[in-house]
Amino acid sequence: MTKNILVLPGDGIGTEIMAEAVKVLDFLNDKYSLGLNLEEALLGGAAIDATGKALPDNTFELAKKADAILLGAVGGPKWDKLPPADRPEKGGLLRLRSELQLFGNLRPAILYPQLAGASSLKPEVVSGLDILIVRELTGGIYFGEPRGIRELENGERQGYNTYVYSESEIRRIAKVAFEAAMKRGKRLCSVDKANVLEVTMLWREVVQSMAADYPEVELSHMYVDNAAMQLVRAPKQFDVMVTGNMFGDILSDAAAMLTGSIGMLPSASLDINNRGMYEPCHGSAPDIAGQDKANPLATIMSVAMMLRYSLGLEQPANDIDAAVSSVLDQGIRTGDIYSEGCKLVGTAGMGDAVIAALRAQ
Ligand code: NAD
Ligand code: IPM
Ligand code: MN
Repeated sequence: MTKNILVLPGDGIGTEIMAEAVKVLDFLNDKYSLGLNLEEALLGGAAIDATGKALPDNTFELAKKADAILLGAVGGPKWDKLPPADRPEKGGLLRLRSELQLFGNLRPAILYPQLAGASSLKPEVVSGLDILIVRELTGGIYFGEPRGIRELENGERQGYNTYVYSESEIRRIAKVAFEAAMKRGKRLCSVDKANVLEVTMLWREVVQSMAADYPEVELSHMYVDNAAMQLVRAPKQFDVMVTGNMFGDILSDAAAMLTGSIGMLPSASLDINNRGMYEPCHGSAPDIAGQDKANPLATIMSVAMMLRYSLGLEQPANDIDAAVSSVLDQGIRTGDIYSEGCKLVGTAGMGDAVIAALRAQ
């Protein structure tokens, strides 16, 4: 049966990394006759330029119908002056996540042994690292109301946001995390700021109340400031981490660097039925956009996650993982993961190397 994949390259390096991910997907689609039908649409700044809207109606309709979505990255300085709700980030990406109820964001930070030297931490601190960050993606302070910038009586402006989580929102993301922990090392660390914020006091209470349903999972709780410190001190103590939207955003970028580069961190954003959007954790990287420098591996590994989680295609997903490993074995590196003696390639060169490794399988 045909499956429809919506491809949203977005802005900046989004278009460059997506071209390589699509090469990989096309290759596997042909090799295994997967019957995937790829369609491309505009999102973010590119969509604003073409249609005036960060999430054009056409893109939204295609997204609702798609079996899975692949996203590059959105945003850039060109659109930073627009009102918040119209920007690529809020008007495009966050709206799409929210409308499709993609609340479960899985961000696996895995250190490929070949990249131990590229991590900013000592090899012994990171070797064997395999963490899964489960980030709540459609609630918390990103979406809480009221929000805005208002004028105070004394004439100065005040910015404000609201950090909210309901019990049901906490329960559904915690369930994702407990179940992920069951399939992995059976250790779950819930990250909050329950010493200060009521919303996360409730978070801690609800997560704790679910522990009895997962007796095999060892549940712990940690304040977010300590969690940030522990991630760089001794990251291998973690198996699965679960946290809210903003803390998850920040901790996953920190975790990314443990793996050598943010260019190595894929993600899956899933709804309650495992329908999802797949995207690298990094942004549109305006500083290197258009220079054939971006690492496409996070996006290519996001393709593997899509095949596995939304399409149930384990073999081609395994092929991608093995091809990435083989490319790294060969010492092929983009600039962000380069170390001495390796072969430096650009975005397209890295995509070609992955295809060559797939062909050689
Ligand atoms: P960024 O992730 O785009 O870049 C941070 C740094 O990491 C930059 O130095 C960049 O060159 C580097 N980097 C990122 N991805 C890389 C890759 N694949 N290969 C090599 N180096 C890479 O974050 P930023 O600079 O804070 O944000 C830039 C824009 O991207 C902003 O408009 C932001 O809102 C947007 N953004 C979008 C997403 C998304 O679409 N999912 C995620 C994060 C940021
Ligand atoms: C991410 C990004 C987004 C987020 C931005 C671009 C809205 O940083 O996917 O990590 O904060 O969720
Ligand atoms: Mn982020």
